[in-house]
Amino acid sequence: MVEATKTVLIAGATGYIGRRLKDRLLRRGDVCLRLLVRRRSKLRQEVVGRVEVVEGDTFQAEALRQAVCGVDTAYYLIHSMGSGADYAERDRRSAENFRNACVEAGVRRIIYLGGLGCRETASAHLLSRLETGEILSSDPAVQTLWFRAGVILGAGSASFEIIYHLVQKLPVMLTPRWLTTRTQAIAVVDVVNYLEAALYAPIDGSQQIDIGSESTDFGGILRQAAHVMGLRRWLIPVSVLTPHLSSYWLMLVTPVPFSIASALIEGLKSETLIQNEHARLFFPQIEPVGLEQAFRLALQEIENDEVLSRWCDSSDGSVCDLQSQDDLHHAVLRDVRRFALGGRHPQAVFETVCTIGGQQGWFSFNSLWRLRGVVDKLFGGAGLNRGRRVAHALRVGDALDFWKVVDLKPGKRLLLLSQMKLPGTGWLEFVLEPEALVQTAHFCPKGLWGRVYWALMVPFHALIFRQLGQKLLEQSDLSPKKKDFLNI
Ligand SMILES: NC(=O)c1ccc[n+]([C@@H]2O[C@H](COP(=O)([O-])OP(=O)(O)OC[C@H]3O[C@@H](n4cnc5c(N)ncnc54)[C@H](OP(=O)(O)O)[C@@H]3O)[C@@H](O)[C@H]2O)c1
Repeated sequence: MVEATKTVLIAGATGYIGRRLKDRLLRRGDVCLRLLVRRRSKLRQEVVGRVEVVEGDTFQAEALRQAVCGVDTAYYLIHSMGSGADYAERDRRSAENFRNACVEAGVRRIIYLGGLGCRETASAHLLSRLETGEILSSDPAVQTLWFRAGVILGAGSASFEIIYHLVQKLPVMLTPRWLTTRTQAIAVVDVVNYLEAALYAPIDGSQQIDIGSESTDFGGILRQAAHVMGLRRWLIPVSVLTPHLSSYWLMLVTPVPFSIASALIEGLKSETLIQNEHARLFFPQIEPVGLEQAFRLALQEIENDEVLSRWCDSSDGSVCDLQSQDDLHHAVLRDVRRFALGGRHPQAVFETVCTIGGQQGWFSFNSLWRLRGVVDKLFGGAGLNRGRRVAHALRVGDALDFWKVVDLKPGKRLLLLSQMKLPGTGWLEFVLEPEALVQTAHFCPKGLWGRVYWALMVPFHALIFRQLGQKLLEQSDLSPKKKDFLNI
């Protein structure tokens, strides 16, 4: 029997899990989907036409009220990690606001995905995830299904990208002792399977549901990845690698910043094993895939250039409020260059502009860009090895090497916000006029050092930015017809 259409809210629909769940629920005919997002432009036009969108966050009472009004089931896929030192307090307030709004609106069920583990051994980050679950489950007026997952393996997840880069780059790995910590990772496809199945599962009362695949240790996960990637790798345990040192190492070798590396490593020190059998009991139809298949699915997504979401999709602290970040009026220093299109079609040039970065590189002086990336990593910036989600498409919120896409007007404008360590705020803007490509580096310096930095960069800008515009035009002559680069 087909169930009646129900209104379902996803809070956190622009995040790693939220984007995948949104795509899955959009395929169902029995769900009227509403999304609570901090910035509407992070959604594809095609999605906006098929869902209700409420723009706002969990700290805005009116937006929250609108978001939960008439909702049957509300997904809570939000966290504040990366928003600063007070993230735990923000997480508490966010969860309280959400729970209270749901109770007031008569929401039947909240579905929350948090971390796996117990309070006694929890890292600060995990503790915040546990507190969130406790707060959401604390009012009997609304039922909360609280899923708890450890390492999630899927293309674009932070854990997967760390493993992928380590295995790909290092034939011999000196590993810390706690690589023997037991864990139960899970494939992202299974996480989404559980979240989707939870919509209609006949479950009474609030429940914790631990999810995971086979039990192994972190060394086992690395070995399994190497096996699937067809590489021979040697892991040599050493005792000198402290968590701090390991976090620096991960930050340098992989795309994640120090904050995420250290949170993950803190998490690895204690076991993350399933503590209840509720997943099997409530969802007997779901048999999580093993690690080998989880890696194969992730690699397939990468090879097909179809990565749906990445850990860096969501905005961390410094770019949390993207709305204010595309306001260029504060920039007082600019490098503006106009390149005549010379009869080229503006759309073709724009499509080429949208392919910069990642594997493609920056069209000229790639070694200088790479050097800048290494220096940036050493100083704690994003560096270049973040690459891009897919080669042929961009969307607002995408990370692009050490930039973040903050505005994308198809055929007209691409605006990138710098996430390099800089004494100020920088943007790189490409605007297509009917006859010209206008490329501008904007900079809002912070103090005297910001101005000195800009002055020191002027000779490099003269070289790099002049060549960049010219090469983009030349490349647009050569590029084969690309896939519809906005249609992903
Ligand atoms: N990813 C994993 O590997 C993993 C593993 C285990 C458990 N989990 C759990 O899964 C849940 C989702 O994680 P995720 O990795 O998908 O997170 P994520 O990629 O960082 O996404 C977080 C989402 O929350 C939104 N958001 C943050 N604060 C908000 C607020 N106050 N109001 C409204 N929206 C807000 C973000 O919006 P913007 O796009 O505007 O930033 C983004 O859409 C978390 O509870 C996490 O603990 C994840």
